[in-house]
Amino acid sequence: MEKTSRRGFMGKAFGAVAAVGGVASLVAMKQTWDPLPSVKAAGFTEVDLSTVEANCLVVEKWRGKPIFILKKTAEMVAKQDEAQTARDVIVDGTHYMIAIGLCTHLGCIPAYADKKEIFQCACHGGEFDSSGLDIKAPPPSPLVIPPFNVKGQTVMLGEEGPEYKKMKEAGILA
Ligand code: FES
Repeated sequence: MEKTSRRGFMGKAFGAVAAVGGVASLVAMKQTWDPLPSVKAAGFTEVDLSTVEANCLVVEKWRGKPIFILKKTAEMVAKQDEAQTARDVIVDGTHYMIAIGLCTHLGCIPAYADKKEIFQCACHGGEFDSSGLDIKAPPPSPLVIPPFNVKGQTVMLGEEGPEYKKMKEAGILA
């Protein structure tokens, strides 16, 4: 009799331990399934535009790619045509070029010549203007604009915000 109730107690105790272990395993498994916070954040890059100097190229990294951010001076904006301005990201009246810094010819990283206000690709001599439009062959197309979302003075790369969607609808990203 005593043996039976002792066995019953042991059984319950073992069951309780097993249940706790089971829950712990489930929690551990759930943590394994969920992406780590850093991985979640890895798809996005936050850029603080308030620290960017005009006509001074900033290169950020997003999903392993270089991202060019160029704040334009009022003089640069004044001499732009519509096609150039259509590609600008305008934050509080200030124009920025945001583009993936890979030449659309064969993928070299162009350099910014601040005096000429153009991007020059050393690989085969291709050039892009300060809005990322291809102005000298062989690049077949403009620099690619990555998905972005403007939140105050911050740009979130990897997020499709309203300005990005507007560019998409206007066929600028095609
Ligand atoms: S890779 Fe840039 S011009 Fe060829």
